[in-house]
Amino acid sequence: MRNVALYTIRQHLPSRWLSRCSYRCSGRLFGSAFDRPESCLLPGPPGSQIQHRGAKSRATVQLDELPSSPIEPCIGLPEVENAGPAYPTVVQQALNNMRKYEKCVLLTRVGSFYELYFDQADKYGPLLNLKVAQKKTAAGPVPMAGFPFYQLDRFLKILVQDLNQFVAISEEFANNASGTVKSGGLLFERKVTRTISPGTLIDEKFMDPYENNFLLALQPIDSGQSPDASTEKTIPAELTKGSISPTLISRRVGLAWLDLSTGDFFTQATTLGTLGSAVARIGAREIVLSNGLDDGLKQGILTALEQQRDLVTYHTTLHLEASMTSWTPMLEAEVPIKTQATFSGEEVAAGSFLLAYVRDRLQGLGIRLQPPVRRQEKETMSIDKNSMGALEVLGTSKDGLGGGKGSLLHTVRRTVTKSGTRLLRDWIASPSMSLTVINARLDLVSQLLNRRSFREDITDMLRRTYDSQRLVQKFSMGRGDADDLVSLLRTIEATNGIANTLKKHITPPPAQSLLDNNNNNNQQLRHSLQTLSARLSLDGPNRLASLITASIDEDGLMESHRIQETEDADIVSMAQEVLQKEGSAEDHAAMSRVSRSKIKQKVNIEQDPEEKDNWILRRSASPVLEALHNALDDLHGDKTTLTLRLREDLNAQSLTLRWTPGMGYICHVRGAKDVSASLKTSVAARDVKTTKSTRSFHHAEWSGLGSRIDQAKQRIRAEEQRVFQQLREQVVLNLVRLRRNATVLDELDIGCSFAILAEEQKFVRPVLNLGLDHRIVGGRHPTVTMGLEEQGRAFVSNDCLIGEKERIWLITGPNMAGKSTFLRQNALISILAQVGSFVPAEHAEIGLVDQIFTRVGSADNLFRDQSTFMVEMMETSTILNQATPQSFVIMDEIGRGTTPEDGIAVGYACLHHLYHKNRCRTLFATHFHSLADMTNDFKHLACYCTDVAEGPGGSFSFVHRLRKGVNRSSHALKVARLAGLPESAIETAQMVLDSFNAGPSVPIGDAQPQIAKG
Ligand SMILES: Nc1ncnc2c1ncn2[C@@H]1O[C@H](COP(=O)(O)OP(=O)(O)O)[C@@H](O)[C@H]1O
Ligand SMILES: [Mg+2]
Repeated sequence: MRNVALYTIRQHLPSRWLSRCSYRCSGRLFGSAFDRPESCLLPGPPGSQIQHRGAKSRATVQLDELPSSPIEPCIGLPEVENAGPAYPTVVQQALNNMRKYEKCVLLTRVGSFYELYFDQADKYGPLLNLKVAQKKTAAGPVPMAGFPFYQLDRFLKILVQDLNQFVAISEEFANNASGTVKSGGLLFERKVTRTISPGTLIDEKFMDPYENNFLLALQPIDSGQSPDASTEKTIPAELTKGSISPTLISRRVGLAWLDLSTGDFFTQATTLGTLGSAVARIGAREIVLSNGLDDGLKQGILTALEQQRDLVTYHTTLHLEASMTSWTPMLEAEVPIKTQATFSGEEVAAGSFLLAYVRDRLQGLGIRLQPPVRRQEKETMSIDKNSMGALEVLGTSKDGLGGGKGSLLHTVRRTVTKSGTRLLRDWIASPSMSLTVINARLDLVSQLLNRRSFREDITDMLRRTYDSQRLVQKFSMGRGDADDLVSLLRTIEATNGIANTLKKHITPPPAQSLLDNNNNNNQQLRHSLQTLSARLSLDGPNRLASLITASIDEDGLMESHRIQETEDADIVSMAQEVLQKEGSAEDHAAMSRVSRSKIKQKVNIEQDPEEKDNWILRRSASPVLEALHNALDDLHGDKTTLTLRLREDLNAQSLTLRWTPGMGYICHVRGAKDVSASLKTSVAARDVKTTKSTRSFHHAEWSGLGSRIDQAKQRIRAEEQRVFQQLREQVVLNLVRLRRNATVLDELDIGCSFAILAEEQKFVRPVLNLGLDHRIVGGRHPTVTMGLEEQGRAFVSNDCLIGEKERIWLITGPNMAGKSTFLRQNALISILAQVGSFVPAEHAEIGLVDQIFTRVGSADNLFRDQSTFMVEMMETSTILNQATPQSFVIMDEIGRGTTPEDGIAVGYACLHHLYHKNRCRTLFATHFHSLADMTNDFKHLACYCTDVAEGPGGSFSFVHRLRKGVNRSSHALKVARLAGLPESAIETAQMVLDSFNAGPSVPIGDAQPQIAKG
């Protein structure tokens, strides 16, 4: 019923509402790219045009400046407009657009609604929770579903972000007189004004502010090696299913990725073998591949992408620029030739491909990206894809990469800004390999940790900033409105506040300076703050801030929001009325939830009788504006004089001078009878409308004055546009400075976040070095500790001293006593340390880790159609092939997916390889305690174990503290009993276990009759 009711609303909406809606969709104040196209000018008081300011969330663009076809329209599809009985025009227009943008879900604006038709209504209606109605037409019933225009953001989010669809939005534009004639009487023209894909969001309200929205392009390049067919043949096809062919593993691939909403732009060179991990680290929303790839290569890439293959878009570019110079028009600054030379061929190829794709998507819409930053594999600790997942670095197994509760990112995050959070995610996904970088970050944390009030001052000011990375990017794309300017202003003000606070702590008070001279700590503080503060550039931004303050009238801006809300409330209340008449109770309830507050506002506003001009720029913003406003004041004075004179002449005290859409400039009088006599004598007056109690008439003087007032307003509007454009240019001129400042604030945010975390969780500063030791005293698992604390339980800390003396720790012990936790906590401590955070331990000394490898758990990867054991062996082969002496490996219960004999054999082989070949720090947990005996002669391997403490009456508890030695009992049955296995099954298991313990000579078969008897 709901849909039917909503459609009825549309039919009931008077044309002024329809026009206002389409007006809003295409009109946005002050955006040169958003200016209302002439064809959209609708009948309305000229003076009212500017007041229809699009609410912030509605991204709207001038028709001919729009990326008219980001998704290439399909050319040559037949238009069947005249074949057979015709669809109504709106439906036919939609059908044509659906054919033209066949890869997109088409949303067609009709009055106050966006609608889906035909199979798209059938398919997406239910997914969007919209009722699908059958519209009766001459050409047969047409399925349709729709939603009110103001819910566009909500539904775009579901379609683009959740369902991963491309969306084409077809807006309606009022035809002017000649357009109407040409189109055979159509009042509205419908055109696709934008197509949206997951990776090409610009400033949509629903974008996750805490995450980057990366679009990634992959470009493999020819390695010159011919594929070695012989190796391929030796491996049975079903075993290589889901893995990359060995001949392609070393194929070089270029990666380039950008975020249109922030202007971030990166490149990296990698190989097909490590592509999966690189892509997992980036966390892109859309991945572009060339249509022209050969099948084998394409298959290899898709295999590497695994689950992320759903994000792939194929794209064809006819001509790819081979040089970075061609990138310049899309960058805020040219990349110097010397820097260009550092980019590899595959990076340049990927970058050119990426930019070509973006250009095609955003036809005509200019962008300014930051110059590309090279990500080099050796600059960061590599966390391979499996480890990223197993250690739940960015997300938990449940939420993928979503940064959900339980992930490392979620556990350590105390940032207060959105862009700070984005940077934190980036840091955590790519811990540094540079002692200088890490120590600089740690220095800042140390300093902020000891000075709570200083830190609180900083975070308070950070909270007052806006996301300048995204704001600035909007301006660089020709977007950005008055609100965005005010947000920038607030951010610049807060940046000044932060700069002053930093300065205060850099210069010690004179009395203290002598005392402090020997105080290393304070010098260090000053140094680390000095470096940060020196990176802030305030002159340009401050000039911009003064300009914004001097130009924008914030009261006027607030007023314009109020007017906007009134209009929204009008539409909502109109819909409410219709629903009350025709809708179901359910419709009504749904509507009233959203609208109650808006209607309340509307009622208040309606009581305000005096309609006032509303300006967003101060009149002093330019001399011309000042003069124009003075002229308008004079005209308003004339209007008052004329009103008074006419009241006098016509003897009508209730006379007012007005403008209405239907009648134009009129004099309006209540109590009509009073004036009829005097009117007759007035030559200048002409009656237009008389009701029982009112009378409206034209008067030549008012008509002339009224149109002069309107012209004056229009001139003011034009001048406002010009001044606004200048402001926008000033923002663009300060682009680099504003972005640089934003990065400093982001780093400060992370510094404060780490300091708060360290204080809260009693983390310590790790000491990083170039050695090969990992010395953790009293280490804890950051996430498990917090989880246990929530339940009022304490976490048992453990030391981990692996390195040159004891390179491998072989850990045995009962189920559930904390082996896996111990393994992971040590990997996480290394990651945190190299991110530049304090770590959960009493003392930590860590030799830089180049790669972390994890072989944990035994989740079947059904998606890849591989068995547990196959997955396990593939992960293990990566480790044995790639780990270096600088690496850190954790192996948890390897060999579990096969027979105990095979498992032990594989486990031993791994230990042997890790010990003799890889020579890396390794934590190895296993239930195969015979491995301890088999590795007796490995001098640098030590055995540790967890335990179970048995109490009276069969009670027991886990001993989470590690001790030296081997624990040969896994106490599995205790856990089985805890888990609720039937007592009879436990007894059976115990019997089997006893028969094993009695010695290998007792065949299990002998036990069976007893079991049967028991
Ligand atoms: N050091 C510890 N202190 C307190 N509780 C712990 C500790 N380590 C593990 N646990 C608890 O024991 C549970 C099982 O730990 P886990 O590492 O999976 O054991 P294992 O791998 O030995 O079977 C964890 O979920 C946690 O609740
Ligand atoms: Mg375990």
